[in-house]
Amino acid sequence: MDKLPSMFRASLETAFDQALDYLDGLNEKPVAARVDAATLRERLNRVLTEEGVRPEQVIRELAADVDGGLVGSSGGRFFAWVIGGSLPAALAADWLTSTWDQNAVLYAASPAAAVVEEVVGAWLKEILGLPSAASFALVSGCQMAHATCLAAARQALMAERGWDVEKRGMCGAPPIRIISSDQSHGSFERALRFLGLGQSHVQYLRAGPQGALPADALERALAEGPRAPTFVLLQAGEINTGAFDSFQELIPISRRYGAWVHVDGAFGLWAAASGQYRHLLEGVAMADSWATDGHKWLNVPFDCGYAFVLNAAAHRAVMSYRAPYLTHTAEVRDEMDWNPEWSRRARGFPTYAALRQLGRAGLASLVENCCRHARSLVTRIGGLRGAEVVREPTLNQGLVRFLDLKRNAAEKDHDRRTEEVIAAMVASGEAFFGGTSWRGRRAMRVSVCCWRTSDEDVDRVVDLFSQILNPAGSVRDGARP
Ligand SMILES: Cc1ncc(COP(=O)(O)O)c(C=O)c1O
Repeated sequence: MDKLPSMFRASLETAFDQALDYLDGLNEKPVAARVDAATLRERLNRVLTEEGVRPEQVIRELAADVDGGLVGSSGGRFFAWVIGGSLPAALAADWLTSTWDQNAVLYAASPAAAVVEEVVGAWLKEILGLPSAASFALVSGCQMAHATCLAAARQALMAERGWDVEKRGMCGAPPIRIISSDQSHGSFERALRFLGLGQSHVQYLRAGPQGALPADALERALAEGPRAPTFVLLQAGEINTGAFDSFQELIPISRRYGAWVHVDGAFGLWAAASGQYRHLLEGVAMADSWATDGHKWLNVPFDCGYAFVLNAAAHRAVMSYRAPYLTHTAEVRDEMDWNPEWSRRARGFPTYAALRQLGRAGLASLVENCCRHARSLVTRIGGLRGAEVVREPTLNQGLVRFLDLKRNAAEKDHDRRTEEVIAAMVASGEAFFGGTSWRGRRAMRVSVCCWRTSDEDVDRVVDLFSQILNPAGSVRDGARP
């Protein structure tokens, strides 16, 4: 057996070299995966030997086997779904998080992990413009942030009606009604499922043309429905258009009916970091709970989301647990009092590092650059012959559609053409986009979240669309104004 330190050195140095190669190559390598599932299975499904393999060999072979099966989503020309990259300090802190291998469950299990979360919780509330008294949790993503916030909501609304949901569960509990726009993100509905609240309890209201919830529809639904414990879901950033609900209007209406207002701000809450976009969030601090992500726009590595709850007592009542073997420490924050997990990764370190690397101005620039690139991509691609803008970005999300230029082309022809052009771009390896349906028509989503996206990336992508749409090569009406 090798001496312990040298064993670590060989495998970590191999990983370090592999990591640098990967990061440096992101700009040149195809963005989409290049190998199929069969190839990956053949490579990775090695014989699991009786005797183990040297650590550095494991790492070298792992990196070789996954080559071509990784998607360059942390590079500058990835615009599908809502996926950010990793800032250098956040990535390095994430490596250390694995190295330190702390269980961020209790202060006693890792005082540093507990205190760093305390610090980032306060920083995040300030940056996002949320009440300083709100409690928070660092969870795996916005999905679990919804589950955390809505568990607190369920607790509070049931307690108001004398129902101890922690003891009695939901069987026989007063029914909860839930109101959301028909454009809410699916993670909201999944969070409800986890909490024993089925889809049939949700009243979906038709969103307005930009994807925001109309105030009159919400008022009507609240007035007409039964007087029941109610959740209202609002959105800071609709997934297709980036639309923001009008918090100033909608939260006071919800309040009049005693509803708990939860905000899905997976990416949109970050608008608060920029003086240019903060106005979109006016009134958002009046809500009861908020969910957002670190692994999207803050560019920390997966996985990291944040839940914030105004009613800290309800939040704590849902999550905390006491057992004789646990060690609780007075006057410090035990993470398991706020988190749905028991043992958990020390997620605070990468967030701490990302915020310190960027500083306030750096975070504002990150947000503003992504918004500028999103607008540029949407308007310039949409301005090409054979394309049209469906939604200009309010923030960092927008929609473009590609047109079948034959005479009498129908919507289904444009839908097919849209899919065809997206597929051609992905197959080129130059950039990665995804499709969606908006108001019954197919469109290409343009989602910009990564700190690495540059003006050169945008130019390169617009040129490529120009070539895909007009292979003869002369049409440059989407070229830079
Ligand atoms: C608006 C919105 N809400 C929630 C989610 C779910 O977030 P996560 O994947 O971090 O759980 C997403 C993911 O893209 C989203 O865009």
